[in-house]
Order: sequence, then structure tokens, then C-alpha cells
Amino acid sequence: MSEKKSYYITTPIYYPSGNLHIGHTYCTVMADAVARFKRLQGYDVMFLTGTDEHGQKIEKKAAEAGVTPQQYVDHIVDGIQELWKTMEISYDDFIRTTQPRHIKRVQEIFMKMYEKGDIYKGEYEGWYCTPCESFWTESQLKDGKCPDCGRPVEKARETAYFFRLSKYADRLVELLKGGEFLQPQTRVNEMLGFIDQGLEDLCISRESVKWGIPVPIDETNTIYVWLDALSNYVTALGYPSVDGESDEKYKKYWPADIHLVGKEIVRFHSIIWPAMLMSLEQPLPKHVLGHGWLLIDGGKMGKSFGNVVDPVVLIDRYGVDALKYFLLREYTFGQDGNFTNEVMINRMNFDLANDLGNLVSRTVTMIEKYCGGIIPNHNEAAAEDPDGELRDTVLASWKGVETHMDKFEFNYALESIWTGIRRTNKYIDETAPWVLAKDPEKKARLDEVMHNLAESLRIASVLIHPFMHTTATKIRSQLGITAEPAWEDAKVFDCLGGEKVERGEVLFPRLDVAKELEALEELKKAAAGPQINYEPFKEDIEFDTFEKIDLRVGTILSAEKHPKADKLLVFQVDLGSEKRQIISGVAAHYKPEECVGKKVMAVVNLKPRKLRGLDSCGMLLFSEDPEGHLHFVSPDDVPGMTIN
Ligand code: MSP
Repeated sequence: MSEKKSYYITTPIYYPSGNLHIGHTYCTVMADAVARFKRLQGYDVMFLTGTDEHGQKIEKKAAEAGVTPQQYVDHIVDGIQELWKTMEISYDDFIRTTQPRHIKRVQEIFMKMYEKGDIYKGEYEGWYCTPCESFWTESQLKDGKCPDCGRPVEKARETAYFFRLSKYADRLVELLKGGEFLQPQTRVNEMLGFIDQGLEDLCISRESVKWGIPVPIDETNTIYVWLDALSNYVTALGYPSVDGESDEKYKKYWPADIHLVGKEIVRFHSIIWPAMLMSLEQPLPKHVLGHGWLLIDGGKMGKSFGNVVDPVVLIDRYGVDALKYFLLREYTFGQDGNFTNEVMINRMNFDLANDLGNLVSRTVTMIEKYCGGIIPNHNEAAAEDPDGELRDTVLASWKGVETHMDKFEFNYALESIWTGIRRTNKYIDETAPWVLAKDPEKKARLDEVMHNLAESLRIASVLIHPFMHTTATKIRSQLGITAEPAWEDAKVFDCLGGEKVERGEVLFPRLDVAKELEALEELKKAAAGPQINYEPFKEDIEFDTFEKIDLRVGTILSAEKHPKADKLLVFQVDLGSEKRQIISGVAAHYKPEECVGKKVMAVVNLKPRKLRGLDSCGMLLFSEDPEGHLHFVSPDDVPGMTIN
């Protein structure tokens, strides 16, 4: 038996700095479709994804959250893995840059490059964009700001290690001009232009960033994120072999067939990464493919812009397959595309509910009604027009899918399938089985029509499998097919006969566009939650100032409305050693009778003051919730009365 051909595809490793949005899922969904397509074609596929967990941004976020960077990333990575599970992403390995298997190999990669003389120690000064973790040269800045995200940059200088990137400039130009390595072509020109400006050596370590992989020869520096991150594509396969561990996977799958990446990181993948591999004297990936971004109202999507689209909300409402279909069908690879709920819902209605869903339910219902639920065999004698045209159209689809998938034209690949699906729907209208059913002499013809419908649908179930495998499986089970699909099955007609169909749930219910738009808007508002405006912290005080504040726990004995002020409540508070009258402006938040018996916190050495004629001797403490309601700070589990 000949060994299966291997195929290695990767996604970028995502920053676990927050939850992933629909833009991130776009790339992973594309990679998943390719991986499933190649598996269906019989390849031995390795599909790698993962998380890029080091760097200053994570360090900062963790500090803000009051946890260690490791705790911070662990939590977010759990969420990312859960998301991929929900989305049925068929990755074969998930690499985390904090895993020991990655760390030790990155250090080994550093050593190999160092020993070759490609890494040297120097001092770095540059413009650094913290959110992007990127250094920029003066000429790369756009209006003095980060050319990627437009945010301010700061001058940074420190001891660092450098990679002799400049040494590889000529070979990189040759590689890029070769035509096949980087796609789409527009990106090639961009990269050549970039190299043309003069390729500087690359700073590959940082002194100021503690959350990173230590430079093996100098513990004061950590390896800068890009050298760390890019290496994941080989460390996951076991390269370089350290501690005598096997690099069998590396031998089997490297070089990668495809690195799928977003347009803003093409530069790192088509210049730094191949140069690193040249230094390591390893084969280069076959292709780097840069995809466009999903935009909102023509602009970037992100937490800071307050416009992220949460894939989980859409999946809960429409299902994984509908979302995957939409992402793959709507956008053109390599170009940016605008995301709107309306376009998404219309797509789901037209293509999924009307075209595919309808075809499945009509076909299965008719086979039940006219053929006792059993798919008839092909009967050449009963063939008529337009059977030939139907077959030709449906049998042309697989070729279209192959041609377009080779070029990552997911939208055209799906269009090829839908040409067959629409043709089949038209076939029902043309042959009008409900008319044939009225004439007993047309039974053979009716059976042949039903056979052809079932066949077309079977072929569709094979073709859509890489893109929406759950739907494919549901269709197959409605047709009584138990076998797993193989790509070759889409190239032949007349396979079915004798299977028992079984009507299932509606695959894609028709959506009411206006209602859905409203519901999604509501969900978005609910997810955003109330806006909390935290009060800024006041100036620091000395300990002896703090010590002067006398805080006590008391119990409210009675409460009544202030006779002269609607907003005030007058409390009698038991402080143990004495009883006090304290007045607070909380009449809008508490009824007097609700307060009696409550344990409260009070500042008791605030100078007494008169409030509308009544003495208030101290102050009770309240906390304000996001809606502006006040609540007693109520220390129910405090046994004593003094606070130290
Ligand atoms: N950690 C680096 C990648 C290292 S790969 C060795 C990184 N991470 S990221 O989380 O910021 O981005 C990961 C990918 O998500 C990028 O390819 C990026 O283009 C993609 N996307 C982020 N927002 C996107 C959209 N709105 N639309 C499409 N893709 C988007 O960069």
C-alpha cells in the first residue's frame, strides 16, 4: 500500500490577551475547511493551531487583572480551546508557547543561529508599539504613529540580541520573486518594496520584557515574541530534536504546505520566518497565504473599538455550520470584507434555508410519499430530459471545488456546489413529481426522478462535507447512507438504490430578517452590560492620616425620614459603647423599615454637623452599583465593632 501524501497547514497562533472575535475565527474556519478537504481527498493532514502567550501586552494585562501571566493565559486559552470545540475545528495539535516542548526548542533554535554567527549582541533603539509588540523604524511610522494600529509609539533603547536579517535580503528577494511562495500577488510587491527600503538586522530579544523565554546565553534578556512565535510551526513537530526526542513528525510534515495568516502579519511570515529557516538551513514553507480582514462599518474590529462580533452568540442562534458557511461563502480570500448581520441572515436564508434545506426536505418527503421511503435504483429505460443536464451539472461540481480550493477561493468552491443544488431544485419544478404521481403509468419515471434527486443530494453531501460536516452527515443519514464520505464519491452518479430514507429535523429554518436584526441588537447590548465608570483613585495619604480615621461596625436601631429633607434618612445607630444619630442621603435607595437591624460601617470621628436642623454624628458607608443604587457596606460576618 502506498503511503498517504502528507499535507501540513497552520493558522497563526493567537494572542490570548482577550476572547477571540469573529475575525479570528475566520482564519481558523478557512484552515479547518482546507484540512477537512485534504483529508477527504485522502491526504495525511497535520493541522496546527495554538496560542502565542508571551510578551509585554500579556504581562500588562495579567498585572491589571492581579494574577500571574501564566494564570492569565491559562484562563483565556481554556476559553479559546472551548471555542474551537464548539466550532468543531479539527486541529491535530494545539501548541502553546508556554509549553516546555516549545520553550526548549526555541532556545535550541536561538543557539543554532547564534553558533552559526547569525545572532550578535548590540543595543537597540527604536519606536515601539506596545499593543502590537512591534518595533518600527522612523520611516515606517505613519504620521508618527504605529503603521499597523495607528496608536502612539514610544522610543525604546536597551541591550538586545540581533539576528542578521540583512544577510538574507538577496535570497528573500529571489524567494518572493519566484512567484509561488507568497500569495496574493499584491502582497509580494508590498514585501519587495519593504526589502527595497533596506532590510535592517532584527532585534530578537528584550531586556524589559520579563514574560518570555530566556535567552539561553544571557538570562537578562528574553526572546522577542516573533522569534518565539514563528518557531511554533516547527517546534510543534519536534524540531529541533532535543533531549533525544523524536522529530519524526518534522520529517513527515515539514515543510508546511500552507501558513495561513492575516494580512498584517504577512511581513513576519514572508521575510523573518524564511530568513530564520535559511539560517537554520532548513527547507522553507511552500506557501504563505495572506487573507483580508473582516471589518465592521469599513473599520477594524476590536474590543477597544467596542464593535466585536462574538461568534458564540451567532452559533447559539444559527448553528456552527450556518456560520462557517457564511464566512466561507461571503468573503473573497485576500480581500477585506464588511461584516453585517443583515448580509449574514440573508445568506443563511437564501442559500441554506431556501436552496439546500428545501431540497433535502422536499426530496426526502417525496421519496417517503411516492416510493414507500425507499430510494429507487437507476432505471435507464425511464431516463428522459433533463436528466442528462442534471447529471452533467451535478457531476461538474467536484472539479469546480478542486480548482477553487487549490486557489483558496472558498466562495467560488461553494458556488460550484450551489450551482448543482440550484439545478436540482429546478429539476423538481421541471419534472413535477406530484403530477407524475397521479398517473400510475408514469411510476417508473417518477422512481427515476426520485433516484436522480437522491443522487444529486448524496453528491452534495460529499461536496459540502469539508465546509459543514455536521449538515453533510445529517443529509446522509436522512438518505439512509451510513458510510463515511470519500471525495471520489462525488465523481459518480447512480450509486444509491434500496436505502431507507428518514425525515429529520428542518436543517436551516427560515429566518425573519427584521426580527433577527432586532434580537441580535438586543443581545449585543446585553453583552456590553452597563457601563461602569470607575472613580479615579484619590491621592495617596500617609499612614498617620489613615490612622486618624475611626471606623466602627454598628447596628441600626431605628430609621425615619428627615422631616425637612426628602433625600435624607435619620438613623439611630448602636455602636456598642454608645448610640449615635447619623444622617445619610439614601432615602431614594432604602425605605426606613428596611434598614432596621442592619449591621453597618461608620466613620465615627467625623466632626458632627447639622443637616437641615438635625445633628449627624459620623458617616455611614455605602457602595454604589453600576446602575447608581446605593447599598450599605454591611459587614455581616464581623464579630466585633472596631476595625483595625
Ligand atoms: N500572535 C500573532 C501571530 C503569531 S503567528 C506566528 C498574532 N495574533 S493575533 O491574535 O493578534 O492575530 C491572529 C490572527 O487573527 C492574525 O492573522 C490576524 O490577521 C487575525 N485577525 C484578527 N482580527 C481579524 C479580523 N477582523 N479579520 C480577519 N482576521 C483577523 O498576530
